[in-house]
Amino acid sequence: MRVTRELLDIARTVATEAGALAARRRSEGVEVAASKSSVVDIVTEADRETEALIRGMLADLRPQDGFFGEESGAEAGTSGLTWLVDPIDGTVNFLYGIPHYAVSIAVVEGDPDPLTWRGLAGCVTNPASGETFTARDGGGAWLGDSEIHVADAVELPQALINTGFAYGSEMRAEQGAVAGTLLPRVRDIRRLGTASLDLCFVAAGRTNAYFERNLSPWDHAAGAIIAREAGAAVKGRGDAPAGRDFMLAAHPVVAAALEELLEELGA
Ligand code: IPD
Repeated sequence: MRVTRELLDIARTVATEAGALAARRRSEGVEVAASKSSVVDIVTEADRETEALIRGMLADLRPQDGFFGEESGAEAGTSGLTWLVDPIDGTVNFLYGIPHYAVSIAVVEGDPDPLTWRGLAGCVTNPASGETFTARDGGGAWLGDSEIHVADAVELPQALINTGFAYGSEMRAEQGAVAGTLLPRVRDIRRLGTASLDLCFVAAGRTNAYFERNLSPWDHAAGAIIAREAGAAVKGRGDAPAGRDFMLAAHPVVAAALEELLEELGA
């Protein structure tokens, strides 16, 4: 218990400092530094600089732990713990000046593989809105100083659903087709552009469910802990844990109904 509190304090301290740097760089103007998996999958100098800051701080504070970041890769540790870092989740929002992006930092136990790890603590902070979401194993989920909970169960026609799209064009076409058939069956769909915040919005009861395919571990590590601690079922298909294949987070009753519908729609 004490250990996860200390780990969460570190996640929050580092994310706050990293968020301040990202916001400073945003106010100075942002340009694309390179594209990655496809021309729409971009990285800015600010992503790299922010990750370097986070990596340096964690190396000083927790030299024995492993690190796995979106921009600078992985390094194993000796403690059995690994820090999962997305320095700027919602990079496209960040590039365009849409104030909905986040620094996402989680610490997990076990191999840095979402299918087997145990999420211990996570912090997702949006420097543009000033909102910071946190959770640690067994300690509930928090927005600032207020405890947050997943929304009560609703029927799917009353459910507001968050989703996201991968960067590859083939996968996007499939995801767009599923979204098109889902839309008439639910209250509405949101594509807000930042997976970590999508999960935090489910945790805070701002949306009823979130699903996405093809997420990377750093996209969901912290948000998944926060959603889980807020009372959401956070899962993959069937009995599988959430991972690259599929991620669904919602009140357990909504999750069961949505998973069934998504399967029917071929998601
Ligand atoms: C992306 C965002 C987006 C999600 C993509 C992610 P990035 O992360 O979280 O909402 O739909 O799957 O890759 O590239 O902005 O760090």
